[in-house]
Amino acid sequence: MLYPLSYEGGPAKASGDSCGDAPQWGAVTDPLATVASRLAPLFADLADGVDAEVRAAVADPVVRPSNRADAQVNGALPLAKALGANPRDIAQRVLDKRPLVGIAGAEIAGPGFINITFDDDFIAAELSAVVDDDRLGVHRAERPEIVVIDYSAPNVAKEMHVGHLPSTVIGDSLVRIHTFVGHKVIRENHIGDWGRQYGMLIEHLVDLGAEPGTHLSVGDLDAFYKEANVKLEQDPEFLERSRRRVVLLQSGDPETTALWTSLVDVSTEHFNRVYDLLGVLLTDDDLAGESRYQPMVPDVLTRLEAAGLLTESDGALVVFPPGFTNREGEPLPLIIKSRSGGFNYATSDLACVIDRVERVGANRMLYVVGAPQAQHFQMVFAVARMAGWLPAEHDAGHDPAVHVAFGNVLGADRKMFRSRSGESVKFIDLLDEAVERARAAVGEKHADLPDGVKGHVARAIGIGAVKYAQLSTDRMRDSVFDWDRMLSFDGNTAPYLQYAHARICSIFRRAEVERASVRGSATALASEHERALALAILSYDAAVWDTLDTLSPHKLCTYLYDLASQFTTFYEHCPVLRADDDATRQSRLVLCDATASVLGHGLGLLGIDAPEQM
Ligand code: ARG
Repeated sequence: MLYPLSYEGGPAKASGDSCGDAPQWGAVTDPLATVASRLAPLFADLADGVDAEVRAAVADPVVRPSNRADAQVNGALPLAKALGANPRDIAQRVLDKRPLVGIAGAEIAGPGFINITFDDDFIAAELSAVVDDDRLGVHRAERPEIVVIDYSAPNVAKEMHVGHLPSTVIGDSLVRIHTFVGHKVIRENHIGDWGRQYGMLIEHLVDLGAEPGTHLSVGDLDAFYKEANVKLEQDPEFLERSRRRVVLLQSGDPETTALWTSLVDVSTEHFNRVYDLLGVLLTDDDLAGESRYQPMVPDVLTRLEAAGLLTESDGALVVFPPGFTNREGEPLPLIIKSRSGGFNYATSDLACVIDRVERVGANRMLYVVGAPQAQHFQMVFAVARMAGWLPAEHDAGHDPAVHVAFGNVLGADRKMFRSRSGESVKFIDLLDEAVERARAAVGEKHADLPDGVKGHVARAIGIGAVKYAQLSTDRMRDSVFDWDRMLSFDGNTAPYLQYAHARICSIFRRAEVERASVRGSATALASEHERALALAILSYDAAVWDTLDTLSPHKLCTYLYDLASQFTTFYEHCPVLRADDDATRQSRLVLCDATASVLGHGLGLLGIDAPEQM
């Protein structure tokens, strides 16, 4: 159902009417947003006399979820303060215009809050609109943008380990959600494939008898890296060769380039195996490693020079962005060209900013990288802004370049996650183990599932559990990699949500009813449990947008968990297939179907499969 932003034009249409004029602002299905849109013009009118500076702030009705009612409007208090009036009077003046007729009942409470209780008919009508909508009520971005999402970014010649989990799964989920609301998303995997270490790696490869085009085996990568490092430290002749090799690589020597390419290839094959098993969207087309930006480095230098930003310091070429100091309080430089003539990680990131803005046409860039790199990104963004490569502020009011930071991955013992022998654990082994553990759990719980289904379900549960454990953690906090917890069928876990979804699918199987066939049936929200479940379903739009606005997938997880819990309560209290009469049964089937749709879709936005049977 569509709601005009203004309450004018008489009382709201009777609910149940799902047609309307052509939408100008998209369907509003979040009931809180509907209330806000009805109240906004009234608040704006009242705020008319207030100082221009604070007017926008005090004209917001501030509609929030509430545990005393369905929602609470708090905006009368700040508005009254600005007007020097009594908040209860302001609230009353708003309600006198009867803005919520057909939507909700309203009551003034305490110092001037407005408690909102939605009409059941309104909820039922909104629910029908969501059930009918293939977007499940989630509105599109008003202004679609080109969004570059930089994620995963492992380093060549090293195995991926559990530390790559957060960036890979958070980034992938952000890709899916941005795409869903209509942005054009460009995935970029900024792999570490350039730098001085390639000198030693290539020399070591040559020592092992490699010819250009040699195929290494992936299992050797970590050991290979360590051996090269030991030689570098112990053998001055090797050190010298490695130095010369770096120069050859930088000058594009064909043999050296071929050896380097074989190192990159064997690494990306390994990354791809991890990505496949994990079910993330990254492919070779998304590779945009540091090496790609090297040809643009001279341009970075020229432009910084022309802008008068480049300074010499200790033989290096640097930029001093204002506001950055070291522990001694001295200005901190961003090193562009080191004393030895090499270019740094920061230099290729600057080239990368230019590329993303000017070639890709990005309006926004998200860098999903661990919190320890916070200062690196702040400085790179500051220099890019000084040079005029980044707009000062983005149209939609948010920063054009954002470091989407995250914490560490800890083990069940809350220490850095490591194997028993203290090594970092290979990511691919962890994922295999996750599927194995899930297979065992599925075998026990669902011995009757056909074998083919079991394999699919085990993979969905195992991989889903690993992803969800990461995604459901507030990304700024450390996540905990704990097999027992993540694979549990109880609590805020993937298996719990997947099971809730599969259980609903099985209700329909048992009833021999197609899910789609119940859509369009009327719903009656006879009990508080049905009503609460319907309201939870209607909040999907708000949950998705809250996740986007804060770039925090854990918000979507929390929402889905609440929805599944709400469903569990409903199912305990409201018999579906054995309902008292056909209309009630049909109405409850609508709620079941809508819940399963949102659960399945929401898990999909997290990159997690929702099997129909498990
Ligand atoms: N490869 C880097 C690392 O392992 C991460 C790259 C992140 N992206 C970027 N544009 N700097 O630390």
